[in-house]
Amino acid sequence: MTALDRYITVEDFRPAAKEALPADFFDYVEGGAGDEWTLAENRRAFERWVFRPRFLRGAGRPDTSTAVLGTPISFPLLVAPWAFQHLAHEQGEPATARAAERAGTIMVVSSTTDEFLEEIAHASAAPKWWQLYVHQDHAVTEAILDRVVAGGFTAVCLTVDFPVGGLRHRDARSGLRLPVPVSGPDILYDPKLGWDDLSWIRGRTPGLSLVLKGILTAEDALLAVDAGVDAIVVSNHGGRQLDGSPAGLTALPEVVDAVAGRIPVLVDGGIRRGTDILKALALGAGAVLTARPLAWALAAEGQAGVERALEILHDEFENAMALAGCRTVSEITRDLVTPSPR
Ligand SMILES: Cc1cc2nc3c(=O)[nH]c(=O)nc-3n(C[C@H](O)[C@H](O)[C@H](O)COP(=O)(O)O)c2cc1C
Repeated sequence: MTALDRYITVEDFRPAAKEALPADFFDYVEGGAGDEWTLAENRRAFERWVFRPRFLRGAGRPDTSTAVLGTPISFPLLVAPWAFQHLAHEQGEPATARAAERAGTIMVVSSTTDEFLEEIAHASAAPKWWQLYVHQDHAVTEAILDRVVAGGFTAVCLTVDFPVGGLRHRDARSGLRLPVPVSGPDILYDPKLGWDDLSWIRGRTPGLSLVLKGILTAEDALLAVDAGVDAIVVSNHGGRQLDGSPAGLTALPEVVDAVAGRIPVLVDGGIRRGTDILKALALGAGAVLTARPLAWALAAEGQAGVERALEILHDEFENAMALAGCRTVSEITRDLVTPSPR
């Protein structure tokens, strides 16, 4: 029995993180925008689907591995970008990068950490995507993108749902001060970004994939496909931007139908269980991302905590696949779920 064995589910990290963190930063991690309706909706959405498990298929030890944009991963979960990891734990982003390597998955690195870009890039062999916010001064972003290319990142993941900061009342009440102001209307980033800017980003990052994070409608998904984007992340930013947005899981089928298999569609928001991953894949996601469980785990236990959280999610997903009769990720199909009767 090690200290980490007391964490049986990823939710077990939450109280430990609350203890470890200053109250204002814990609230920053936990909170959402406005009335936090979307934040709560991200969890409720999973309750609206039930499984149609199949049996006698010899699915005892499923193969959880898959690939995203040609990169093999051990199971269909990526580390979502989340900001200011050094404020959660002194080990910061490099610890998450090493945990992602141990777990055999991709880390999406938050744009707010550009000060540590090279340190994170070299911290582990995990494949990494650079989550991009575009600075109002495009020359600043061009210099960052050059470092992203030099640092060996394999994709740029442009977060589109951040034209301005969401209204995070918890942070306003606590008076939280962050290294980069991201939770109010006064932000560093370009509020005028448009579809035309994608070719500029692409041109600056030859050989890297371009992923859009934050798409919630069929209309924008079609524009993304037309713009030659390589993948979409259906996301409402963990309920931190426009309150009243649908859960990622709710918007997922609309986007999957519009895209019609032309590019991979990923989803995030409220993933806390292996069964959540299974439902998202059944509804057409190629993979999911998760943020808060990994933030709690880093705050509570540093790198070892993030490793344990990723292990829990992997093992739960493997168990759910076996119990649902899926031997491989490609066997997770739409007929595995149906709307819950109530
Ligand atoms: C503390 C925190 C910081 C975040 N920072 C970023 C960020 O810098 N860039 C970004 O695109 N998304 C950011 N997100 C959103 C996550 O990438 C992700 O979309 C969302 O949190 C997923 O929901 P979950 O936390 O329920 O897993 C952040 C989320 C949290 C909780």
